[in-house]
Amino acid sequence: MATIIDGKTVSASVKQRVAEECKSLYETTGKRPGLAVIIVGDDPASRVYVNNKKKACELVGFLSREYALPENTTQETLSDLIEQLNQDDEINGILCQLPLPKHLDEKAVIEKIAVEKDVDAFHCANVGKIMIGDFDFLPCTPSGIMEMLDYYNIPISGKECVVLGRSNIVGKPMAMLLLHKNGTVTICHSRTQNLKEVCQRADILVVAVGKPCFVTADMVKDGAVVIDVGINRKADGKLCGDVDFAQVEPKASYITPVPGGVGPMTIATLMKNTLTAFKIQNHI
Ligand code: GUN
Repeated sequence: MATIIDGKTVSASVKQRVAEECKSLYETTGKRPGLAVIIVGDDPASRVYVNNKKKACELVGFLSREYALPENTTQETLSDLIEQLNQDDEINGILCQLPLPKHLDEKAVIEKIAVEKDVDAFHCANVGKIMIGDFDFLPCTPSGIMEMLDYYNIPISGKECVVLGRSNIVGKPMAMLLLHKNGTVTICHSRTQNLKEVCQRADILVVAVGKPCFVTADMVKDGAVVIDVGINRKADGKLCGDVDFAQVEPKASYITPVPGGVGPMTIATLMKNTLTAFKIQNHI
């Protein structure tokens, strides 16, 4: 039987720490961290994420501003808004919810955000800093996973770490963070040969492929730590991860559930990044 990694508990502890620091910074500076969230169009999943981000800001005591723009927003309008927020002293973090409508250039939007306000850590300057191990912010999902491993005292150094998925948001930065902690890291993707055998080597298996129940028990070593980043909706409306939880849980030593695992962590780490941005911009 595996220990279930409780993302809600770990997330609450991170948010608690952020809230305490926010309160004491307000007492000494009279200022509070500010996060601007931009959402373009009305994708229902994005709407849920943005609402949760706003709620978390209120909980930890941040200023939060939402900019909800219509689906037909032009690149120029979006770019002008970001420029205005880059100059706004009340705003320390800017997040533009992805995906954007097809006619907009995501890369140009990401690169427009001031490097020091890029709390997603998607800007190429921040990605480069992560690569060399000299970073201010980490992308929210991989950073949340590292927080969970740390909370449960799961050792990484010298361990076989296998990351399934090579996205810029999760897979690639995740591999880098595990490497910084001296893991032996393999990244797998849709063209990987002998995927099952590679996964079987993993002491720590991080799965971010976006395919329901993709990882089955035969792919997992006895006693492995299994981290499931997937959020998929089944035909019956229920949420499920990229890992077949019922099959894999008995073999794992630790496993994250879906929902209630990685999901809650991403918002907690966004709060942490916004606090870091505030401190850097205020030279604290
Ligand atoms: N869409 C899904 N995940 C994310 C995220 O971490 N940041 C942003 N900006 N958009 C997302």
